Amino acid sequence: MTSIAMIVGSLRAESINRQLAVAITRLAPREVEFTWPDLSALPLYNQDDDPNPPEAAVALKQAIRDADGVIFVSPEYNRSISGMLKNALDHASRPYGKSAWAGKPAAVIGITAGMSGTAMAQQHLRNVLAALDMPTLAHPEAFLRLREDTFTADDGLGETSRPFVQKWLDTYLAFLARNIG
Ligand code: FNR
Repeated sequence: MTSIAMIVGSLRAESINRQLAVAITRLAPREVEFTWPDLSALPLYNQDDDPNPPEAAVALKQAIRDADGVIFVSPEYNRSISGMLKNALDHASRPYGKSAWAGKPAAVIGITAGMSGTAMAQQHLRNVLAALDMPTLAHPEAFLRLREDTFTADDGLGETSRPFVQKWLDTYLAFLARNIG
């Protein structure tokens, strides 16, 4: 069994990125299991708390450690990632030398109604993942633009987006198999 932690960079109830994350899980083979670390209870990161980190941060770190790989499904906020996603990345990276992210093979994807397809957010995210020593799938890049037919009524992906996302996921799963630490 391969385990992948799904990190969604939006807390919005109707998040299209969460919807995309759920749809991705449906495209995976049965031997892949997904976990959904809870980022909603994380306080703002404060380095003073490193000796005694908040419970939500301890739980996040454990969830990342338990996973073989991590998929980041990120919205674009002002041409970058959301503050809550950066906060989560920072939390699980500390204290120094005790990061939960190091070595975990990652992939990034995102969706927006805007023209950018979250490209700039993903570029910022890739910068952070490099600093966290996470080997990250380079290609195919996955910049999704929300269309009327992106999602199906039963929370899957429509014909215009599913073949590409399937190829992206299959490529990541092969990358993950090659890079599991
Ligand atoms: C946005 N949005 C946005 N979209 C985009 O394509 N590029 C951007 O830079 C931004 N900037 C931005 C900033 C802030 C603070 C918000 C709240 C929104 C719009 C964004 O893509 C849209 O709200 C998505 O629906 C957010 O993703 P979720 O929450 O639906 O997953």
